[in-house]
Amino acid sequence: MIALGSDHAGLPLKLEIIELLKERGIAYEDFGTHTLESCDYPVYAKKAAQAVADGRCRKGLVFCGTGIGVGITANKVHGVRCAICSDCYSAVLSRNHNDCNMLALGARVVGVDLARMIVSMWLDAGFEGGRHQRRVDLIMQAEGEG
Ligand code: RB5
Repeated sequence: MIALGSDHAGLPLKLEIIELLKERGIAYEDFGTHTLESCDYPVYAKKAAQAVADGRCRKGLVFCGTGIGVGITANKVHGVRCAICSDCYSAVLSRNHNDCNMLALGARVVGVDLARMIVSMWLDAGFEGGRHQRRVDLIMQAEGEG
């Protein structure tokens, strides 16, 4: 299950990515927003991130105008490592090296085709472990220490 969240600015791109998930047969839960009415992105990014943190969803995708607001919010939830990406290389490396469990995209930054490619490659990429596990452990230790 993939957790989804967006504000009004990210909604159109979220809907495009929902089509991609359907094409690929990937289950998702959309934590809102569901309308184009102006809203506050932290509300929806937090709901999606909490679903990833508590294990209801294995990964999460969040969307706003830039990806920055939802990405910052998701990273405030313990257990979440959210990459804010607008290119495929960073997205894949965020899985390979950082074991990111969430991805944030900016609907006003990336076009639909690029976003679909970024999400697809991110979903397919795995964590390499090894020396990267030690570094991820240090990230989580830093989170625990506040
Ligand atoms: C909304 O106008 C915009 O601020 C929001 O979508 C996001 O880009 C914030 O980081």
